Amino acid sequence: MQTPSAISLSFLLLLSISAAVHGHNITRILAKHPEFSTFNHYLTITHLANEINRRQTITVCAVDNAAMSSLLSKGLSIQTIKNVLSLHVFADYFGSKKLHQVTKGSTSTATMYQATGEAPGTAGYVHITDIKGGKVRFTPEDNPSQTDTTYVKSILEMPYNISVIQISAILQSPEAEAPTAAPDLNLTSLLQREGCQAFYDLLTTSGAIGTFLSSADGGVTVFCPGDDAIAAFAPKYKNLTASEKTSLLLYHGVPVYNSMGMLRSSNGLMNTLATEGAKKKYDFTVQNDGNDVTLKTKVVKATISGTVVDEEPIAIYTIDKVLLPRELFKGTVEEAEEPAPAPKAAKKKKKPAKKGDTEEEADAPGPDSSDDYSDDDAADQTASGGGRLVASAVMAFCFSWLAFV
Ligand SMILES: *[C@@H]1O[C@H](CO)[C@@H](O)[C@H](O)[C@H]1NC(C)=O
Ligand SMILES: *[C@@H]1O[C@H](CO)[C@@H](O)[C@H](O)[C@H]1NC(C)=O
Ligand SMILES: *[C@@H]1O[C@H](CO)[C@@H](O)[C@H](O)[C@H]1NC(C)=O
Ligand SMILES: *[C@@H]1O[C@H](CO)[C@@H](O)[C@H](O)[C@H]1NC(C)=O
Repeated sequence: MQTPSAISLSFLLLLSISAAVHGHNITRILAKHPEFSTFNHYLTITHLANEINRRQTITVCAVDNAAMSSLLSKGLSIQTIKNVLSLHVFADYFGSKKLHQVTKGSTSTATMYQATGEAPGTAGYVHITDIKGGKVRFTPEDNPSQTDTTYVKSILEMPYNISVIQISAILQSPEAEAPTAAPDLNLTSLLQREGCQAFYDLLTTSGAIGTFLSSADGGVTVFCPGDDAIAAFAPKYKNLTASEKTSLLLYHGVPVYNSMGMLRSSNGLMNTLATEGAKKKYDFTVQNDGNDVTLKTKVVKATISGTVVDEEPIAIYTIDKVLLPRELFKGTVEEAEEPAPAPKAAKKKKKPAKKGDTEEEADAPGPDSSDDYSDDDAADQTASGGGRLVASAVMAFCFSWLAFV
């Protein structure tokens, strides 16, 4: 039995852990400045905002609504706008001071466009020049004739995690503005790609595919056992009833997009498409082991063996074994090194119900609770990025603690 003081101590501990892992939230930072609302909106719909929130040591060059209008008037596709805007995110920290003191008056910085691997040659780089009169000029490497884009002001500096500055105009790069094919985000065709065929066949024959498809828009992560793994599992699969087959297949989907980077940086319980309340948890534990990501159920430990697609909102990874939920299969693996299960994402944030109900409420699928923090400035600028699992754990812990008192 824990004493109340032991509980508040671990509560404080959890809070401090969560404060340490909170990142920045570019959407919230810019929301305070209506003159950047268009830029902010496009960071969201291109999913660049999430990418920015996940990174550290970056600089975001925002442009005002008038500058965005001139970009939008070009009638570019969303995918192309994404390339253009990703040129406005530097993979280095440039606060106002550093900008005005660039070594020898000039430097070149890699951008998020360069990091996509789609920028040919030097197209993903931007030249920063400290020109006379305290002005700083930004020139895309593939468009040296653009000399009119300058630093306007600093919007926010969080050294050395993120600097948000305003620049006077859009950086014009012929390569970034070149038409690009939209990525294939058709889950049906993606699941038929190499490595997932046998799993896809089970999804269609069982009808479970429907649940996967209806989750796709809001984000989905599919862990698809390789064809060999499915073949080895066939005798056991045959033994399951139709509804058990469906649960088993849904167990391989998570209704939240998880990039490989997110999986590598978060450890903890993950709910699945099969999760239905406390009695049918159908969850598993994500664990990192060096660069490997393992998925552990109480019965089996599988390792991610490849990436089929990782393009928000869809991620599909191949795994080396079929995931066996304890709800359907007996047996245990390495019980000794099983980590203490983290409390799951809590949905309600009002006053908690009776203690026993906490778990019932914790059914929000996946580690994706978007917790609202208080309105003060510091909280506004931070939000759960990599720390989502922990943030959720803190919320859930709060509830059981409050209920206890
Ligand atoms: C920068 O990020 C690190 C790691 O997330 C964090 O510990 C630190 O407090 C952040 N700095 C600021 C100024 O927010
Ligand atoms: C998705 O792909 C499948 C199979 O390739 C195709 O039949 C279907 O029409 C596609 N759906 C959309 C919306 O393009
Ligand atoms: C399938 O079920 C039968 C009857 O319960 C059992 O004897 C057999 O061992 C099971 N096969 C597998 C592969 O689990
Ligand atoms: C960032 O802030 C926006 C607006 O307040 C919010 O909708 C979004 O969920 C936040 N993102 C994260 C990752 O917390």
